[in-house]
Amino acid sequence: MPSLAGKVALVTGSSQGIGAALAMALAAEGAKVVVSDVQDCADTVRQIAEQGGEAIGVPADVTDNQSLKELVATAETALGPVDVLVNNAGIFGTLQLKPLMQISEDEWDAVFRVNARGVFQATKAVIPSMQRAGGGSIINISSGTVLRGAPMFLHYVGSKGAVFAMTRAMANELAADDIRVNSIIAGFTASKSVLNHPVMMEKIRLHTLNARMIKRDMLPEDLCGAAVSGVRCKRLHHRPGHQRRWRRDHLLGLQVHHRPWVRSATLETAAARCRAVRRRSRRTRTRAFAAHWSFAAWN
Ligand SMILES: NC(=O)c1ccc[n+]([C@@H]2O[C@H](COP(=O)([O-])OP(=O)(O)OC[C@H]3O[C@@H](n4cnc5c(N)ncnc54)[C@H](O)[C@@H]3O)[C@@H](O)[C@H]2O)c1
Repeated sequence: MPSLAGKVALVTGSSQGIGAALAMALAAEGAKVVVSDVQDCADTVRQIAEQGGEAIGVPADVTDNQSLKELVATAETALGPVDVLVNNAGIFGTLQLKPLMQISEDEWDAVFRVNARGVFQATKAVIPSMQRAGGGSIINISSGTVLRGAPMFLHYVGSKGAVFAMTRAMANELAADDIRVNSIIAGFTASKSVLNHPVMMEKIRLHTLNARMIKRDMLPEDLCGAAVSGVRCKRLHHRPGHQRRWRRDHLLGLQVHHRPWVRSATLETAAARCRAVRRRSRRTRTRAFAAHWSFAAWN
């Protein structure tokens, strides 16, 4: 039986890119998926149906409470209470890279509005549904730029730093409702919008590839194992007070090798492997945070 059979998963910003890949992966694990975006979601819904999954497309803006209210109501009516929320919607692939002195306050606000406030708003909208379901799992998509301090898009890095920080605070606060909150700290990923961004492809891609152990682009699909594992593996989350920062490209490395234990998402086994790697690496540290982990595949 698929591991997420009977679960309802809502993925924001899933008409394309990373969100679409995560929506398809959750559907492949048996979840009924709500594909949501400000753009048309039909393509992702069609792809999920073609792979034998169940999905509905519901347009919604994560910065608009009324739109979010309607999204959750539609999801509940069609599929049932929401068990899983992936806060993926964000502004990234359309950003202009520029020095911080050239970023206007309006640009700053526009990025924070979607990337940080949108996570807060979508989470707030979904929590009552999760409480009705008796618990849930939230995955927030942060970014390796936070750990690397990437230059030329301070508004973006700041907003994803906020997501990283909010994840920990949400995890502590929502644990009482049996709602787990975790983040994926994704490295530079060749999503559709990134592929269409000549400056990013030229400047960030080359730098990133050079710094990676595995010399290929990270694809949206490479993040699916972390998301699915995070949603379905309760035991790791309930290890009291651990957050794992994985070495650069560690996650990507695991997935590129298609190790069956990663594909089958036995996260405990992956964690054991990480412990072995950590012993060998002075750069990898474990720090204590309650009920929260982050996967880092940073550049
Ligand atoms: N691509 C990368 O290198 C990378 C790395 C780390 C993190 N991320 C994060 O992953 C997420 C997806 O990135 P992507 O590369 O697939 O980008 P993308 O631009 O392809 O996808 C983002 C999606 O969010 C949607 N969206 C934007 N504003 C919205 C709003 N107000 N309400 C609802 N939906 C909205 C867009 O329509 C789009 O479909 C983003 O949060 C991004 O910051 C991307």
